[in-house]
Amino acid sequence: MNSIINDIEIIKSETTKINDVDFNNLAFGSVFSDHMLECNYKDEKWEAPKVVPYQSISLDPSAKIFHYGQSVFEGMKAYKDANEDVYLFRPLDNFKRLNISAKRLAMPELPENYFMDGLKALLEVDKDWIPKQDGSSLYIRPFIFASGSGFHASPANEYKFLICTAPSGSYFSGKVKVLIEQTYSRSANGGVGYAKAGGNYAGQFYPTQLAVEKGYQQVIWTDDTSHEYIEEAGAMNIFVRINDTLITAPTSDRILDGITRKSIVELAKAEGINVEVRKLSVHEVVDAAKNGTLKEMFGAGTAAVISPISGFGYKDEDFELPELEDTFASFLKKRITDIQTNKVEDPFGWRY
Ligand code: COI
Repeated sequence: MNSIINDIEIIKSETTKINDVDFNNLAFGSVFSDHMLECNYKDEKWEAPKVVPYQSISLDPSAKIFHYGQSVFEGMKAYKDANEDVYLFRPLDNFKRLNISAKRLAMPELPENYFMDGLKALLEVDKDWIPKQDGSSLYIRPFIFASGSGFHASPANEYKFLICTAPSGSYFSGKVKVLIEQTYSRSANGGVGYAKAGGNYAGQFYPTQLAVEKGYQQVIWTDDTSHEYIEEAGAMNIFVRINDTLITAPTSDRILDGITRKSIVELAKAEGINVEVRKLSVHEVVDAAKNGTLKEMFGAGTAAVISPISGFGYKDEDFELPELEDTFASFLKKRITDIQTNKVEDPFGWRY
């Protein structure tokens, strides 16, 4: 990759909002750092990325993002260690997945140096925004969307790639109770489930609202044909522990290739935990809940890292999970965040 970092124009903000932020009390993704990266695609090529003040953008009302939903994104985090050195976690995997998503939505792929050097230039300018507090990080949101205009239902000819960042604390506070979905689907074979497309999330909101009305916080997505197999948890991948085996569904057209998911699989195996990547039926989980072998369920994703599930609803029946002292969830969350924040060696080469 040839570096373009010295060619990235940097237009600094004349003011800073940083003094208004309480870094000891951060919500998730609701305050934004002073700058953003902006890169435009026009005349069949990406123009040079720029770091500019964080600001509103102006779009034609017929921009195709509004009508046809061409939009893909990534979620990443930057961490500071005790020496205030800055780390990312497997950023090239985010870069590759962004392009996989873009391709599926007929959007132009981005060169690696635009993504990586653009990100580095932005983090250099906004490094004071990266929290040092345990459990906090700078959440990074790279995204590409169709800015080109016109009502013709075809791919746009202009796009924007932006990276915005938000100093953030935890995504969820405490455990979540989930409903195993039996009507709606997040994705289907041949669809866009594996892509990080904005529309995948929009499609989840209504079924999730219905679940919330019934007293649950999130939906467990099942396969679209039979609703018999467990696939994802809300906006995250899912892990289920039966006895001492940790199980997660294999990636497919329908399931996002989560970076936290695949890191947990590798980490758990390296720690001697028996991991099975295989189809997991709702019946197996319900039976395990009934016979006491279901020990844990948790969601895994960049934003929440690992989010324990306290219980689940399935067809008008509720099941509680046991309150264990030592959980795989807390052990693996600590191992992964210790690696991310440079508290321990990284035998996998994930820290960047
Ligand atoms: C992430 O975990 O970063 C995600 O992309 C989930 C997001 C919807 C907050």
